[in-house]
Amino acid sequence: MIEVNNLAKHFKRVRAVDGISFRVDEGDIYGFIGPNGAGKTTTIKMLATLLLPTSGSASVGGYDVVTESDKVRQLLGYMPDYFGVYNDLKVWEYLDFFAAAYKIPRSRRVGIIDDVLNLTDLIVKKDAFVAELSKGMKQRLCLARTLIHNPKVLILDEPASGLDPRARIEMRELMKELKSMGKTIFISSHILTELSDFCNKVGIIEAGKMIVSGDVDEILKAVSHGQLLVVQVPKGETQAALKALEAMPKVLEVFEKDDDEVEFHFDGGNEDRPALMKHLLDHGVNVLSIKDSVNSLEDIFMKVTKGQVN
Ligand SMILES: Nc1ncnc2c1ncn2[C@@H]1O[C@H](COP(=O)(O)OP(=O)(O)O)[C@@H](O)[C@H]1O
Ligand SMILES: [Mg+2]
Repeated sequence: MIEVNNLAKHFKRVRAVDGISFRVDEGDIYGFIGPNGAGKTTTIKMLATLLLPTSGSASVGGYDVVTESDKVRQLLGYMPDYFGVYNDLKVWEYLDFFAAAYKIPRSRRVGIIDDVLNLTDLIVKKDAFVAELSKGMKQRLCLARTLIHNPKVLILDEPASGLDPRARIEMRELMKELKSMGKTIFISSHILTELSDFCNKVGIIEAGKMIVSGDVDEILKAVSHGQLLVVQVPKGETQAALKALEAMPKVLEVFEKDDDEVEFHFDGGNEDRPALMKHLLDHGVNVLSIKDSVNSLEDIFMKVTKGQVN
């Protein structure tokens, strides 16, 4: 449903998006994760046909976002990270306004407005003024607005940002409901845990570059071959540990976790641990301890990102 190839957007000297590629299939919920300033909004605006790429290409439902933007807009529901408030409109008037903008005939609008208000749990606020809504309700109203033309693909830019815990949970439940309706959802966040329990795919972006993208389970498997272990050494002695570990066949990726800790994937069982220990000691590593490290999506995030922003 979404295909992105080498997409880039440069603002003068800032490479906001620096050649990223990924794909989102029909029915996926794709979590687009990255710290503030990573390039999420810039990517999303290009997908939503609101910003022209500097280079590369992107398509939604097979339609090119640059040359077939009208088709893309019909397929797409886009929820911006910041939306203007229309305080002097009633909730139903606000939705009616957007329905009209999508050229939905007046006769069908009443039913559609009720549908999206029911879905977003706002039906009781139908005749309320937008100004009277809480922040969570306004956010849901904005989502209702993006659903008004029954788009197949939803692109949501940090829909839960600034919400209290209850409103966040409600937003999450709504995402699951939209998924069960068969929508393809592309959702961004700078908070990983917010997405980890309902996304089947993730992409992690940092400083304009996609660091990892794909199936959550596969990414977890790829980075968690065998055991994930941490060797603790005296401060400043990680180099020897890194070198010794890299020379060992059963050791896969090796990361310097701290100035006294090295983490690595060990493609062996407990029975291989004494040999591992011996190898390290033989190579002059002053091992203080070897312990198991837990593996979760959060660990992947910490491992693959370096805390850089533009
Ligand atoms: N219109 C613009 N002009 C110049 N720089 C911009 C513009 N929009 C975004 N940027 C820069 O691009 C980078 C990525 O921004 P953005 O896409 O908003 O990140 P995110 O949504 O991940 O927080 C930031 O360094 C930001 O300052
Ligand atoms: Mg943003």
